[in-house]
Amino acid sequence: MASTPDFIHRFVPGNDAAAPVLLLLHGTGGNENDLIPLGTALREGAPLLSPRGRTLENGMPRFFRRLAEGVFDEEDLIKRTHELADFVASARLHYQFQRRKLVAAGYSNGANIAASMLLLRPEVLDGAILFRAMLPLVPKQVADVAGMPVFLSGGRADPIIPPESTDKLAQLLQAAGASVELVWSSAGHRLTTFDIEGSKRWLKERFP
Ligand code: MLT
Repeated sequence: MASTPDFIHRFVPGNDAAAPVLLLLHGTGGNENDLIPLGTALREGAPLLSPRGRTLENGMPRFFRRLAEGVFDEEDLIKRTHELADFVASARLHYQFQRRKLVAAGYSNGANIAASMLLLRPEVLDGAILFRAMLPLVPKQVADVAGMPVFLSGGRADPIIPPESTDKLAQLLQAAGASVELVWSSAGHRLTTFDIEGSKRWLKERFP
């Protein structure tokens, strides 16, 4: 394992012993505070682990570099995916939740790095909620994601995430054995109550 980099992050211990830990991954320009309310809305009392992306684009935190909108620096993406996966593994030990399930909940850029972790380092996750995600890369070899529960929520009017890229991600994960639920609304890039209610229901069903 590569040496573990530090991520600025927040950890909220929670008080629901049955709930999975939620790994909250913000969008471009966000930070470790942004998705705390979302995490609480998804499952009240769940422990929340919320890192800040370590790449800056014009001062805006991201989880990996991009060359243009929707065009990713693949080398950086791969490197950052491993860094984040190593951080998750070390946070499990540090905060002593080794035995808990851990579900990523990512939005936009955060959903894309979560998707990349599913493709390259799925062993650090037990499931993922991906809001406005696209196919971040096509790995040479997809890791084993047999049975991995994944919830994808896309917006048909999203000007940033091409729906066909979300479809491709769903297909790739499904072909690799993941248990994928893909839902669409007429929304744009911003999240709506449809996204929250759908993912909350899915989380309760998959991680009761
Ligand atoms: C990305 O760069 O990950 C996507 O284009 C979404 C975003 O704008 O962050």
